[in-house]
Amino acid sequence: MSTHIGASPGQIAPYVLMPGDPYRARWIAETFFEDPVQYNDVRGMLGYTGTYGGVRVSAQGSGMGQPSMAIYAQELFDDFDVQAIVRVGTCGALSEKVAVRDVVLGVSASTDSAMNAARFGRVSYAPAADFELLRLAADVAEEKLLPVVPGGLYSADQLYSPDPTITATLARYGVLGVEMEAAALYTLAAQFSRRALALCTVSDHLLTGEETSAQERQETFEDMIVVALDALVRLDQQHSA
Ligand code: HPA
Repeated sequence: MSTHIGASPGQIAPYVLMPGDPYRARWIAETFFEDPVQYNDVRGMLGYTGTYGGVRVSAQGSGMGQPSMAIYAQELFDDFDVQAIVRVGTCGALSEKVAVRDVVLGVSASTDSAMNAARFGRVSYAPAADFELLRLAADVAEEKLLPVVPGGLYSADQLYSPDPTITATLARYGVLGVEMEAAALYTLAAQFSRRALALCTVSDHLLTGEETSAQERQETFEDMIVVALDALVRLDQQHSA
């Protein structure tokens, strides 16, 4: 029995979408799933299972920040045998290569967190997305003419950082967006030999100050969920064929 997810084995699908906000998990389930069933409300971190395109899928809130993400991802992989997790979130753009409403496909996730320093000692581990899932998501987005940009994410520990200069350096090294969870997700997926991908819509631009309206955020978020779900359906087809 898992401590923070009040479900029994089998109630969670092998494929899970993880928004940070638990209400987004509910919205994903109610909007996209057939026959959604809520399996968790421990700490209000809602989780649902249903079907999409004939494939069982779940949507589980991760909370904000790597410690919270790591608790839920670990329990999903270890206690519920989840095979693939797609984080569906937002990021702030660091680079002129991305615009608000673009979706960043997180190829890698640099981090200032002490979590991987505790895990790897003096080695600076490079958390990375699952290539097959990343490729499937890129294919789906291209077919649907949705603007996606593959590149690096920066998983920061502090949203309100007292020293914003590091983001300029990271942008020079090809990092496109800042968010707060992908590095922990990618690291745990590697630990358990599972697949993970982070898709982040750009909600605000750190260089231009531009922000999306609530309406725009909703529309882009919807497009991103379709990309994530269709990529998972294709992954399932490829591995059950
Ligand atoms: N920083 C961290 N996380 C975020 C941001 C940001 O600027 N925007 C959206 N998620």
